[in-house]
Amino acid sequence: MSKVTVVGAGNVGATCANVLAFNEVADEVVMLDVKENVSEGKAMDMMQTAQLLDFDTTITGCTNDYAKTANSDVVIITSGIPRKPGMTREELIGVNAGIVKNVAQSALAYSPDAIIVVISNPMDTMTYLALNALGLPKNRIIGMGGALDSSRFKYYLSQALGCNANEVEGMVIGGHGDTTMIPLTRFATYKGIPVSQLLSEEKLEEVVKATMVGGATLTGLLGTSAWYAPGAAGALVAESIIHNQKKMIPCSVALEGEYGESDICIGVPVVLGKNGIEEIIRLELNGEEKALFAKSAAAVRATNVVLKEINVL
Ligand code: 2OP
Repeated sequence: MSKVTVVGAGNVGATCANVLAFNEVADEVVMLDVKENVSEGKAMDMMQTAQLLDFDTTITGCTNDYAKTANSDVVIITSGIPRKPGMTREELIGVNAGIVKNVAQSALAYSPDAIIVVISNPMDTMTYLALNALGLPKNRIIGMGGALDSSRFKYYLSQALGCNANEVEGMVIGGHGDTTMIPLTRFATYKGIPVSQLLSEEKLEEVVKATMVGGATLTGLLGTSAWYAPGAAGALVAESIIHNQKKMIPCSVALEGEYGESDICIGVPVVLGKNGIEEIIRLELNGEEKALFAKSAAAVRATNVVLKEINVL
């Protein structure tokens, strides 16, 4: 029996639970929220789609009752507030850090063997916080940002190429921030053809810029941050873990010397399986990419420092 807990039944958490159930990633999905009856109601609504959509996963909801989440294989943390138009993800740290720390500790108390997937923003810093607050081995703490940003990168590439997004490969590494993410155009392909052979430098630059502010664009349109792709990205990460798929997905993970960095969680490609992070893939970055990565890491590290300033770490 496999079990996934999604903490936070807002837009992102509920979408994530819905995708987990629809794709039958786990036998059981539990949603937990602090708002009374919200996750119970959403779970019941989703269960009423089971016959329509033909899935067998059981979804339940609970109000802040961590006992119901006991023995989860994966705990996905979406708690905290989303950004409003004009806000950066980093500005959320003051409110979200305390919430994420508390949620991570409460969930781990009931699921001591769980792998923790962090979605809450600022995502790299919340992943770093979970790693340090929980003291778990680094393979068990994963931030999902790169999965989402890579999906947005592939979307914008497919728009520029006029092709099916499923035929595009592309990775985004670095921080999950408007100025810190690094869409790797040099590694992106359309059916194995380097996209640099198909798109002009100007067009590729437009794709990179659109990807980096992909979340902000949606926040501007929606008045709050996006949820379909963030929720689905969390489910993709959980699926590779629960089904031991060994997919290579860029995620925010603790580095110990890889890419020249340590004491930080930041996006790099990793192989995800039943042990969480099974391997960190070391890309051969060129000089320009290495410089972008170092700059991104410095920015993420500057946000991590705030955790100490606000006494959360
Ligand atoms: C986003 O980029 C919520 O950070 C998330 O949409």
